[in-house]
Amino acid sequence: IFPNSATAAKELAAEVRALIEERAKQGKNVVLGMATGSTPVPFYRELIRLHKEEGLSFKNVVTFNLDEYYGLGADHPESYARFMADQIFDHIDIPKANINIPSGKVSSDQVFAHCREYEEKIDAMGGIDLQILGIGRTGHIGFNEPGSSRDSLTRRITLDRVTRQDAAADFRGEENVPHFAITMGVGTILRGKKLVLMAWGDNKAEMVAKAVEGPMTEAISASFLQGHPNARFYIDTGASRELT
Ligand code: F6R
Repeated sequence: IFPNSATAAKELAAEVRALIEERAKQGKNVVLGMATGSTPVPFYRELIRLHKEEGLSFKNVVTFNLDEYYGLGADHPESYARFMADQIFDHIDIPKANINIPSGKVSSDQVFAHCREYEEKIDAMGGIDLQILGIGRTGHIGFNEPGSSRDSLTRRITLDRVTRQDAAADFRGEENVPHFAITMGVGTILRGKKLVLMAWGDNKAEMVAKAVEGPMTEAISASFLQGHPNARFYIDTGASRELT
């Protein structure tokens, strides 16, 4: 529990920096799982600062994003591909070929193959070393809405009404928010070697408490992190309020 998101983001970024530099010395890659939304923004800002002011290179970093809205191309202003370019990728030296984000534009009959290839690519890169996560009001990680099983893999899912309401402002109206997304599954996420869930502010407190202290349940996909040997929550005092 940190006094604020900036302090937490700085500490996590320092850990990621150490990992990137250690692997670079060995001539090896680091595989990072990336999240979108407001939560990781302070962390991405700090990584950009480390690149610009302290010379941290991302040449040996490979990334896999958790999810993408189904139906949106990378050129759509609300796509997660656009978000990642704006919030981090355009500001660091990561090779474009190292960036992986599910495509929101695959045709329905190609979705299954696309998702399977995403899984295979993660494994071919040696698995995710560090997965960044946020938590939604439905308790989702990635877009694993209530009902997602512990073993679920990358797939197309239907977004919960609550999730679509939370995205309504970005899309200028709930009616404009896509109904579907492609997301890594809970099982995909749990294969990550180290998982970090970040949450800031009072409105995350209830879900953080349920995820950390409640039963492991498909009703709250973040609760499955309890069964992972190396999962940590980085939260601020607001998000910690409901913990006992
Ligand atoms: C984003 C993602 C989601 C968000 C969650 C919280 O890639 O997979 O699980 O992390 O919806 O969103 P924010 O950070 O906007 O509160």
